[in-house]
This record gives sequence, structure tokens and C-alpha cells, in this order.
Amino acid sequence: GCPSLARFFCILSPSQCALLPQSILSSTTDFQEPISFRTILTTSFYNHSWTQNQGSAWLDELQTHGWNSKTGVFFYLQPWSRGNFSKKELMKQERDFQTFSITFPLIFQDHVSQWQLEYPFLVQVVKGCVLHVGEASKGFLRIAYQGSDLVSFQNTSWWPSPKGGNRAQEVCKLLNQYYVVNVRIEAHVNEVCPRFLLGLLDAGKADLQRQVRPEAWLSGGPSPGPGHLLLVCHVSGFYPKPVWVMWMRGEQEQPDSQRGDVLPHADGTWYHQVSLDVEAREAAGLSCRVRHSSLGGQDMHRPVGWVFLAVMVLLVLLAGLAFWLWKHW
Ligand SMILES: *[C@@H]1O[C@H](CO)[C@@H](O)[C@H](O)[C@H]1NC(C)=O
Ligand SMILES: *[C@@H]1O[C@H](CO)[C@@H](O)[C@H](O)[C@H]1NC(C)=O
Ligand SMILES: *[C@@H]1O[C@H](CO)[C@@H](O)[C@H](O)[C@H]1NC(C)=O
Repeated sequence: GCPSLARFFCILSPSQCALLPQSILSSTTDFQEPISFRTILTTSFYNHSWTQNQGSAWLDELQTHGWNSKTGVFFYLQPWSRGNFSKKELMKQERDFQTFSITFPLIFQDHVSQWQLEYPFLVQVVKGCVLHVGEASKGFLRIAYQGSDLVSFQNTSWWPSPKGGNRAQEVCKLLNQYYVVNVRIEAHVNEVCPRFLLGLLDAGKADLQRQVRPEAWLSGGPSPGPGHLLLVCHVSGFYPKPVWVMWMRGEQEQPDSQRGDVLPHADGTWYHQVSLDVEAREAAGLSCRVRHSSLGGQDMHRPVGWVFLAVMVLLVLLAGLAFWLWKHW
């Protein structure tokens, strides 16, 4: 499993990463991906006296922390969610998040008419940092109103989003007055966050670098039309996420393969399906091919077998017959 190994390996020890053969590095698209840690606070404003907070933290697409908005306590969803931070440092982060979750909504409540906000509305704050292999980490902080970008933070200042209009300008003007707060934010996203992220990657290494082999099987979808079959290739339970699935005839990729999204299972593994609409008489000789880092360079094949095909064709014929009978009754 080169791709994800290379990725974490390089982030944890860039100097050793330089020793990896170029062929491994350049052949993995995954390797180029940055990795991020972010906390999200979502506040729902119902009326002038009623707001509700939800908080969480994520390593890319994996949730690492939950948050109890009543007690202000984080819960640790992975055994390694504490990274390498001490109890004291974690408690400080918890306190800061709690304070922020109380004071931040007040700013919006106090400017409802000035910023022309309309109840009920939703404000999301995303704060974190991103690591690119071989580059300095980058901190970020963004605020969205009703699901659209409003303002973002960079270099100790707030900047309006192009689509945020007049409201974004006003929010920036206000937030830029809190110079001391902004210096602290800068330190958090550019110092504390990357340090925590590196510690998290290190503590979770075994889990994050694990390789889980997919299961693959074929099924038929609803017939796309007379004489046509919809072949569906299911690939399930794999980790990490990058996967390549394609309908093939021999060594030839079938460009009409329709890819679904890569969807998460509750256990952190992934599911992907790829379908192909073919004429029934052309279905023989097709196969589904799966490439994944857990397979160690050995592709998985699922050929369209004769039995499978016979059943599919029979089903299509039966459906046709049923339709004919129904029309001529
Ligand atoms: C605010 O909204 C809450 C929940 O919808 C409701 O129970 C409460 O009565 C509302 N308060 C005011 C002042 O409208
Ligand atoms: C950040 O701001 C400082 C002072 O305002 C300035 O000297 C520096 O060039 C800025 N950096 C970037 C990347 O914009
Ligand atoms: C945690 O790990 C990071 C990265 O290896 C390191 O920079 C940091 O000093 C460690 N300890 C703490 C308390 O952050």
C-alpha cells in the first residue's frame, strides 16, 4: 500500500520522504493531497433569545471529536483523538472553544438589524489548518451565513467573500477591530493547530495507515430499455478511500461506466458502485476491475459470468412478457 503510506510518511518525516523512489511518489494521486484538521461550530439562531450550538472536529473526512454544547466537554471519538497533547493543554482548548461558542453568537445577535439577518438563520465557523507535503502548514478560519461563505481570516485580518456583499464588508469592519483576538487566532491556527495535527497523525498512524481489502460483486439494475442491461459493480468495505473501479472488455476500459460517489460506512470504510448500460448481447466478456492500495498491485476482477447473464436476460424477458400481457389483457 504505497499511496496512503507515502502520504503520512512524508508529512511526518519530510526528510526521509525525499528518499522514496520518485516512481512511487508520482504514481499516487493520493500523495499530492493535503491533509487538514478543522473544528466546526454551527449556531442556529431561532429568535433574539434562543440559539443552539453544535460542535465537532474532523481529520479530513473522519470525525475525531464530538462536543456537548451543554457541558462544553469534548468527547474523543478515536482512541488517538487526544494526539500528543497533555490533559492540561486539552482542557485549555476545551475552555477556549466553550468561551468562543458563548461569545461568538452574541456578536451576531447584537447586529441582527444592522447586518439585515433574518430569523431563523444558520452561522457556521470552520477553523483549522492544512498540511501540504513539503510546505509550511496553512491556518484558516471561515464564517458562513446560511451556507454561503461570508468572511475569512488571513494574516491577522478578516476579508469579505466576493459573494458576501455589503453584509460581509460590515462583518469584517467589526471583526477587524478586535486586534488582540485576531493575534490569538493567528497563533492558534498557525501554531497550535499544526502541532496538534502532527501529533494526531502520529498517534493515529496505525489506524490511518491501515489497509482494508474491498469486497466486490455484481448485480443487475433496473433495465434501462428494451434489450439493454444495467450492470452494477459494487465495491465495499475498503480503506483508505482512493479507489479505481472500471468496467472492462479485456484490456479495454468502457468509457460509459457511470461512477457513483464514494460513500462512507459507519465503521470508517468506504463503498463505491460503478454501473454500465449495455446491449444484452454485448454483456458477455465484460468484467469489473478494481484497483486499490490494499490489493498490493493485484487488481480484482469480477467477470460477467454465464449464469449471471442468463438470469439477467431471463429477468428482462420476463419483464417484457409481463408488459406485453398487461397491454393485451
Ligand atoms: C424563541 O424560540 C423558542 C424555540 O422555538 C421558543 O420556545 C421561544 O418562545 C421563542 N422566544 C421568543 C421571545 O420568541
Ligand atoms: C501580512 O501582514 C503583514 C503586516 O500587515 C505584512 O507585512 C505581510 O506581508 C503580510 N503577509 C501576507 C502573506 O500577506
Ligand atoms: C506533539 O507532536 C508534534 C509533532 O511531532 C511536536 O511538534 C510537539 O512538540 C509534540 N508535543 C506537543 C505537546 O505538542
